[in-house]
Amino acid sequence: MKIAAITGIAALAFAGAAIAQDSNTLTIDGTTLLTETAAPEHLENLDTIYSGWRFRTPETQALQIDDFDNPAMIFVDQALDLFETVDGTEGKSCASCHTNGPEEFAGLHASMPKVIDGKLVVMEDLINNHRQEAMGAEPWKWSGGDMQAMVALIGLQSRGMPMDVAIDGDAAEFWEQGKDIYYTRYGQLEMSCASCHEDNYGSMIRADHLSQGQINGFPTYRLKQAKLISRHNRFRGCIRDTRAETFAEGSDEFRALELYVASRANGLHIETPAVRQ
Ligand code: HEC
Ligand code: HEC
Repeated sequence: MKIAAITGIAALAFAGAAIAQDSNTLTIDGTTLLTETAAPEHLENLDTIYSGWRFRTPETQALQIDDFDNPAMIFVDQALDLFETVDGTEGKSCASCHTNGPEEFAGLHASMPKVIDGKLVVMEDLINNHRQEAMGAEPWKWSGGDMQAMVALIGLQSRGMPMDVAIDGDAAEFWEQGKDIYYTRYGQLEMSCASCHEDNYGSMIRADHLSQGQINGFPTYRLKQAKLISRHNRFRGCIRDTRAETFAEGSDEFRALELYVASRANGLHIETPAVRQ
């Protein structure tokens, strides 16, 4: 009986044979992005890494090909306004100091998260540090609209550049912690990130075509939620699907997991802001 019950869960989780990612090409504004490349050396169980874009339907893919159709761009425009908006006790906006505009941050997203003064720092930390310390303004909520719009605006400056996070030196201990979390089996379903995104990508799970769970397109606009979704929000959702307790957005665990997951995409081009179902 016990075996039958376990098989039942497996059948529910992964329906049918795996369907390969498609071979479509992602070209935005005349620039072709690399959605497939050799896996970074540290990845033992994959030879090739693929962007999540390659697993989406042609309708969803099309929304990302043209910036006029990409619903995330509304939020990027809002962030451009926020960049110029004075807030806080110092009477400053981002633009007061960053006078060359967000273009100044080209390449930054590719190297994040990174260790600064012994701390693992993600983009949300950089933004809130500046709001609090440089502007005397209230910090933004992690998955709030303002925050993720700003993360998307800064990320967009690196679109088309390869992901390139460091995993050695100061970063090594955080990376190991993230890797442990990635391979830990959580919840009643006893599934790890790898159970779905490494062992079963290409399979259908409910109505979803499972990808490798890469984060080179984050924050992503999710059609289902009609807003920008942060990396940590996505991690939470995935862990909850295994019916497990999850970590909080902005927790040290999710910072470490973000570093590890980012490193699994090293070499793929940044697509921020991507569009997903
Ligand atoms: C009072 C001046 C000032 C204000 C206001 C300010 N910054 Fe900064 N920012 C700096 C300075 C100086 C640096 C470089 C040194 C550092 O990293 O602290 C920097 C660095 C950064 C970096 C990291 C760049 C890198 O390559 O590591 C980001 C991202 C950033 N700022 C975003 C913002 C955003 C977004 C805002 C508005 C919400 C903002 N800053 C407001 C002065 C400011
Ligand atoms: C039960 C299966 C399952 C598990 C376990 C799981 N995920 Fe997912 N994940 C999904 C599904 C389904 C989607 C939506 C389809 C897709 O993009 O693969 C998804 C999407 C994602 C995405 C978005 C990819 C994109 O291109 O937009 C990321 C990132 C992700 N998962 C990371 C993780 C991480 C990290 C873990 C472990 C903490 C994890 N997932 C565990 C099923 C799972």
